[in-house]
Amino acid sequence: MTKNQLFYGDNLEVLKNYIPDESVDLIYIDPPFNSKRNYNQIYNNIGEEDVAQAQAFVDTWTWNFAANEGLDNIIANKNQLFSKQSINLIIGLEKVLGKGSMLAYLISLTQRISEMYRVLKPTGSFYLHCDPTASHYLKLVLDGIFCARGGSFQNEIKWNRANQHNLATRRFDNVLDSIFFYTKSSANYLFNPLFNTSLSEKELEKKFPHIEKETKRHFGHFSLENSANFRKNDETRIIQGKTVKTKLGWKWSQATFDSRLAENPNLIYWTKNDKPRYKIYEDEYSGRSISNDWNDIKGLTSQAKERLGYPTQKPESLLERIILASSNEHNTILDAYCGCGTTIAVAERLKRNWIGIDITYQSISLILKRLEDTFGKDFSKDYADKETQEIIPAKLILNGVPRDFESAVALAHKVDDRLRKEFEKWAVLTFSNNRAVINEKKGKDEGIDGIAYILDLDETNKQIYKQVLFSVKSNKSLSPNVIRDLNGTLEREKAVIGYFITLYPMENLEKEARKYGNYQNKMLNNVYQKIEVITIQEMLDGKRMNLPIVVDVLKSAERKTKHQTKNIFEK
Ligand SMILES: C[S@@+](CC[C@H](N)C(=O)[O-])C[C@H]1O[C@@H](n2cnc3c(N)ncnc32)[C@H](O)[C@@H]1O
Repeated sequence: MTKNQLFYGDNLEVLKNYIPDESVDLIYIDPPFNSKRNYNQIYNNIGEEDVAQAQAFVDTWTWNFAANEGLDNIIANKNQLFSKQSINLIIGLEKVLGKGSMLAYLISLTQRISEMYRVLKPTGSFYLHCDPTASHYLKLVLDGIFCARGGSFQNEIKWNRANQHNLATRRFDNVLDSIFFYTKSSANYLFNPLFNTSLSEKELEKKFPHIEKETKRHFGHFSLENSANFRKNDETRIIQGKTVKTKLGWKWSQATFDSRLAENPNLIYWTKNDKPRYKIYEDEYSGRSISNDWNDIKGLTSQAKERLGYPTQKPESLLERIILASSNEHNTILDAYCGCGTTIAVAERLKRNWIGIDITYQSISLILKRLEDTFGKDFSKDYADKETQEIIPAKLILNGVPRDFESAVALAHKVDDRLRKEFEKWAVLTFSNNRAVINEKKGKDEGIDGIAYILDLDETNKQIYKQVLFSVKSNKSLSPNVIRDLNGTLEREKAVIGYFITLYPMENLEKEARKYGNYQNKMLNNVYQKIEVITIQEMLDGKRMNLPIVVDVLKSAERKTKHQTKNIFEK
């Protein structure tokens, strides 16, 4: 039975209701923040906020009902979830920031990260990815949650995400993201040191320029003095019969010198002035240990192979580094803001169990497609083995997605001011097997919720793409005019098929749809009803768009096998 779970929903509810205490080894989150908004406005709560973004997720960090409720929950310490420091911090920040964007954002994250703290194992690690817009406040929030209860701040990792600099004429260009790394315990936590092994031939030659006479091994030599462990009155060592002294402190005790020299009598290199230095051999070198300055992982360009068309997608190599450092195989990893599923895809590849949560169906759809493209098309479905007919279970459990009519109705009527048209997105993406794109345009395209593309031939037998349009409605009754309008849009857009998906079955719409006849695909020599009415019940029973040639409009995820960083325990 798989432990991998993908949840469609608000992470606060999912964490509260479905994720047990101390069950997760590693958490990475990359919550949304509209850092392009005017900082002064976010800080001072002045002017009208621009919340109407044509994005999958509208990050309304405005002061609203949810923010007020969050503030009350924190102050009342609901479910004893919050530390005293977290409560006092939010009370103090309210005085400084007032009830506006920034405080709403910090309240939202305090509630959610406190739940994440609850589900983290005592040995677990937590990484928060953010940028300078709110990083200084977020560190206070994290200190209040982790350090106040025996945890530790480990690092602020600076990730240089820029492939190229933008021309910044009024200030310096911002190219650094922050990733805060905390552990739930200050001593008992997992950390696998990582090394960067990507030294060029030239760099290796520079680091190991000498050849040992006896063995022909390449080596470099390094100082044995200037130790941080220097103890007074411990200045003398006897090395290979020679008595040597330093006032700076020796790197090794006499016993360590003796045992290392017993293992390798050639280990010491003597300088012209008779100073001992120790050798590191090229064939034993495991790489340069990775610091908190991550400038070797580049952000994804629009051309990157890995790119899935998701605006805030993070590179797999970034997540690979975090997962290798702070987890082992079969550990459980949680990403509660999983976007297009970078954490999940890397966790799966590195043989970790995983839990992903996202509030928009576009993300869930993209993740399902990414997993199927990368790990096989049966990844998220049970299927019968061709030879034995044995049922092979899916590699993930998908939660929160409507499975019956009642939950579809509930999704259609969900009132959440952060989300736009979730019911419509779910219907289009599910019916099209995640092959359509959501139409974000408003105005005269408003009735069209999704678009897919098929191949056909033109009059000269040249291949061309033709559009398929989707319109979704949850009304209890509709006049046949809606079908007439869809036909008008098909004509105007030169689209060839229209799917009208309705929550409630309506005979009058089906009758109207049949009036518009068929579309003939020349390439397949096949005929399709030009406008088809699909009910949600039919879709729940398994009906899907059945067009053989659908051009993948979303770029396929790359099958990836290569690692950039090496875990020393995986040699
Ligand atoms: C910046 S993106 C994450 C990108 C991700 N790291 C990747 O590489 O694809 C943030 C995601 O958080 C999701 N989100 C925002 N609020 C959420 C909430 N309350 N619960 C679950 N997901 C949420 C958004 O839908 C969005 O997909």
